[in-house]
Amino acid sequence: MVDIITELTYKTFQKSKVYFALAHKRISTQLRKSIHPNLKLNTKPLSAEILKKMQQFIDEIIEKDLADGEKGIYPINLIFDHSWSNFLSCYPNIWLDMPKVWEKIQQKKYQEFSQEIDTQDYPTYYLQNFHYQTDGYLSNMSANLYDLQVELLFNGAADIMRRRILAPLKMGLEKLVSGQNSDAIATQKLRVLDIACGTGRTLKFIRATLPKASLYGVDLSPNYLKKSNKLLSEDLGELPQLLQGNAENLPFRAKYFQGITCVFTFHELPPMVRQKVLEEAFRVIQPGGVFVICDSIQICDEPDFATILENFPAMFHEPYYKNYITDNLEERLEKAGFVNIATEVHFVSKYWVAYKPDINIDS
Ligand SMILES: C[S@@+](CC[C@H](N)C(=O)[O-])C[C@H]1O[C@@H](n2cnc3c(N)ncnc32)[C@H](O)[C@@H]1O
Repeated sequence: MVDIITELTYKTFQKSKVYFALAHKRISTQLRKSIHPNLKLNTKPLSAEILKKMQQFIDEIIEKDLADGEKGIYPINLIFDHSWSNFLSCYPNIWLDMPKVWEKIQQKKYQEFSQEIDTQDYPTYYLQNFHYQTDGYLSNMSANLYDLQVELLFNGAADIMRRRILAPLKMGLEKLVSGQNSDAIATQKLRVLDIACGTGRTLKFIRATLPKASLYGVDLSPNYLKKSNKLLSEDLGELPQLLQGNAENLPFRAKYFQGITCVFTFHELPPMVRQKVLEEAFRVIQPGGVFVICDSIQICDEPDFATILENFPAMFHEPYYKNYITDNLEERLEKAGFVNIATEVHFVSKYWVAYKPDINIDS
């Protein structure tokens, strides 16, 4: 049972992040409007009802985070990860980068990279200034700003959203090692891969949840992998193996992993690439293994939030998002071979849990 002090401290910590993010958005919008009065983003206003519903979803996901920590799905101290000092040390750089972002929006230049960045070996769909990020995913500055940008976007709930994958991942692994309890799972030498691991936050949470598992992370960005390596080296525990690679062609042999995760990435892939990545995940996962995806909600999940979903690509450069919000990932997972597909929805996020059939005709 979490004591009242822990609960109050956590809720105050989270609320302060919500207010900080809202203040940041309001001030930066005002400033943009006064510096660039002609720069109009094609967004629609949100009704008071929608804002209220969003707040309810945030409150609910905060309660779920607390409950999962309380149940021991992950160590309770994880809910205090990403401190204010982490946050504030990066914050001035967000403001310093903002004029460049406004310029990009004004000039409609969304595929700009600094001269010293070698863009040769990357797929074309990847060479984008996602979220108007300077240098896309291909600079140290982008990697240093990313975590805070995502927290500001999701009103301080990004890590909580990432942690929603931990319960289904742990449960799926428990099913695989059937008949054993969750403490036994923590001692198995299981292999878990995080596809498009970015700066390593999800891997950090998985390592705390499954301290004995061997973890792997793959990402196309060397800069994000470097950042991930730094983050994961800060804590005790086996260092996940981090590899630069394309999720369309994972650098692992078939049936290598018992668990695979992928967070906040499918909406940034073109439809055919989404399918290829699912097929690769299917190839490298062991029969009976569990695959957990976390990404944005889709139109069918919360039709009331349609305006929020339509505003998102108008406010941030997200070239594949419009297609993503109506894409049927359940059908794609099935096509790749996955079974027992279940979905759940939390604050602006959706989760897919899918299994590779236990008896694989290829095996
Ligand atoms: C929105 S970020 C998500 C990062 C991380 N999973 C998180 O929770 O923040 C998308 C990540 O996907 C990576 N990425 C995009 N396309 C990829 C591909 N084809 N193969 C590997 N990584 C890819 C990017 O480099 C970036 O780190």
